[in-house]
Amino acid sequence: MNKKVSWGVLGTANIAVKKVIPAMLAGELTAVSAIASRDEESARAAADSLGIPRYFGSYDALLHDPDIDAVYIPLPNHLHLEWTTRAAEAGKHVLCEKPIGLNGDEVRDLIGVRNRTGVLIQEAFMIRTHPTWIAVKEIIASGRIGTLNAVTGFFSYYNDDPSNIRNDLEKGGGALLDIGCYCVNVSRFVFGNEPTEVSGLIERDPQSGIDRLSSSMMRFASGHSTFTCSTQLVPYQSMIFFGTKGRLEVQIPFNIPVETTTNLFVDDGSDLYERSLEKIEFEAADQYTIQGDVFSKAIMERAEPDYSLEDSFGNMSVLDAIFRSAKSGRAERPEVL
Ligand SMILES: NC(=O)c1ccc[n+]([C@@H]2O[C@H](COP(=O)([O-])OP(=O)(O)OC[C@H]3O[C@@H](n4cnc5c(N)ncnc54)[C@H](OP(=O)(O)O)[C@@H]3O)[C@@H](O)[C@H]2O)c1
Repeated sequence: MNKKVSWGVLGTANIAVKKVIPAMLAGELTAVSAIASRDEESARAAADSLGIPRYFGSYDALLHDPDIDAVYIPLPNHLHLEWTTRAAEAGKHVLCEKPIGLNGDEVRDLIGVRNRTGVLIQEAFMIRTHPTWIAVKEIIASGRIGTLNAVTGFFSYYNDDPSNIRNDLEKGGGALLDIGCYCVNVSRFVFGNEPTEVSGLIERDPQSGIDRLSSSMMRFASGHSTFTCSTQLVPYQSMIFFGTKGRLEVQIPFNIPVETTTNLFVDDGSDLYERSLEKIEFEAADQYTIQGDVFSKAIMERAEPDYSLEDSFGNMSVLDAIFRSAKSGRAERPEVL
């Protein structure tokens, strides 16, 4: 294998063209060698504007390119299982956008695909490799905020465009799969285990049927996590971690800025007007560049990916249980593998 892993991209998705590909192009171990679209002209335009050497008018054609080692899949959610499977069967390692499937059963299928094909498959939860999130975990482990007992999160934006994939139920739209998945993910990350039961409340958009306002309470062995997410509210992001001795808050937790420093806030609560608040600054870092390089390194070293499909299954089965609870009106237990 070359000094860099040769990547292909399936689809000219917004997130890929605007954020992830430019970030991956800056990676030390990552080369973006090809892009495919259902429409050859779109593929050509994206390749030209991003400086990608090859383009294809179908996803299949890219998967048959022997010079591609790995693919990044930023397709709509309902296509993640199909194209991750097809890429793995073509011998390509796969980094697929979140949520990697529509439910736990799809992730279970992908675990079978990975075991059968021997390629690496990872869900693109870019926050897991960002230095700020690694620091959050370290600060909590250091005991600085005492024993972590409660987590609370909020993630919202306003988007009621009927042509957007997030507003199409058939394509896996809705708040929980699009952004609630992050609140579940970081709760599991900081507690370091799975919730034993969860409750959910869901309000659906009367036209599209997607969940546009969803909230959950999750019981972990050592505390509680609650969150609300919405696709039709003022844009806002917050994750706060409460311990017996302090509170830790991540600024813009899911879209950590690329060009400016990031802040973590720690407060021991001695002054309710926040005069005891301490700001910890982090160097600017691009989570998509880091994610690409960490996955490329795992490919080169034939190591396990940083975020396993078993972890993805845990996340997805919590989301499944939230959906079940919203229907049943009772707390539900997430399925375990
Ligand atoms: N990690 C993050 O920070 C982050 C942020 C945003 C989104 N995402 C995830 O990335 C994925 C893409 O999101 P996005 O908003 O960028 O999507 P998007 O702009 O709507 O792009 C999706 C792409 O999929 C391709 N496609 C194939 N079949 C399609 C179909 N039936 N309907 C629509 N598009 C189809 C299209 O590419 P061609 O026409 O070129 O084939 C389209 O450009 C989602 O899974 C989302 O959850 C992740």
